[in-house]
Amino acid sequence: MATRRNVLAVVALALATVVSGAAPAVAGADTDTLRAAARGSGVRIGTAVDMSALASDADYRAIVASQFDSVTAENVMKWEAIEPERGRYDWAAADRLVDFARANGQVVRGHTLVWHNQNPAWLTEDAFTPAELRQILRDHIKTQVRHFKGRVYQWDVVNEVFNDDGTLRDTMWLRALGPGYIADAFRWAHEADPKAKLYLNDYNNEGVNAKSDAYYALAKQLRSQGVPIHGYGMQGHLGVQYGFPGTVFDNVRRFDALGVQTAFTEVDVRMILPVDPTKEQAQAYGFSTLLQACLLARHCVSYTVWGFTDRYSWVPGVFEGQGSATPYTESLQPKPAYQAIRNTFLLAR
Ligand code: XIL
Repeated sequence: MATRRNVLAVVALALATVVSGAAPAVAGADTDTLRAAARGSGVRIGTAVDMSALASDADYRAIVASQFDSVTAENVMKWEAIEPERGRYDWAAADRLVDFARANGQVVRGHTLVWHNQNPAWLTEDAFTPAELRQILRDHIKTQVRHFKGRVYQWDVVNEVFNDDGTLRDTMWLRALGPGYIADAFRWAHEADPKAKLYLNDYNNEGVNAKSDAYYALAKQLRSQGVPIHGYGMQGHLGVQYGFPGTVFDNVRRFDALGVQTAFTEVDVRMILPVDPTKEQAQAYGFSTLLQACLLARHCVSYTVWGFTDRYSWVPGVFEGQGSATPYTESLQPKPAYQAIRNTFLLAR
């Protein structure tokens, strides 16, 4: 793809532009939004969506609709929201997002089918036998994927199944079902919607390290066994105080070689508060670094931010003393990070 080859030539320029904040010469009225800047790049620009904000905040809603061409439910497609009681499914909030996306010409990433967090109490507290749990998992995956068939184009089938050292995470699924639950989950999802692209997804797996090595080995193994796995998701929760992984492109390139798609699925770049201009520039650089790796890769198909505004970001509630992790301020003003994402797309044209 010519567009992607061009990126190689402009990476240095992109970095200079991002850091100086200068607008590239190709900017124009048709590139005023992230969505317009991304057009033709082969990479979708997405955001996680907070459904209460979407309902109550018209300014928030207008930005979701205009700036992005992909959306992910921040919470409403998780197990506790979708199947709050065994066998009783609540699609209302998730359907609202899917309808919103359709009305605005956006695709939907499904997040997530199998995880160790945000599961309903009935699932985690009742003592099921392994056979019962397997049945429950199968029913849940099949019912959920079938419900959204043709309307959700990618699913994070399993989320965060490895530890940082590359060993499998000790979860209720691994304990009851053994490591085969991962292949089973992909097979069941595929049976329910053969066209959906099915993803592994995790954090701290953006660069080459023990965790991403484990994913690479798993993807290779599952492919050789004919298990329908199509994509590798990197959440991209970064922090300016840690620096950014330098081997992200090497990592996406090895999945390219396997014929496995890649996506950045939950990008945000937090900082220790208070905000200052240096941290904001570092943040812009972090957002751009992941996007450049995606644009350089052959099969990187989307780049999603985990919320676009500090008004609703999950970060301050979870990482004490940290925040300002998204491309827009609380008052919905674009930050240098916003310009960096836009400029990086424009430079890849
Ligand atoms: C977070 C949401 O942003 C919060 O609103 C919720 O309280 C907890 O989950 N990795 C993931 C996401 O895969 O689902 C998480 O989302 C953030 C970390």
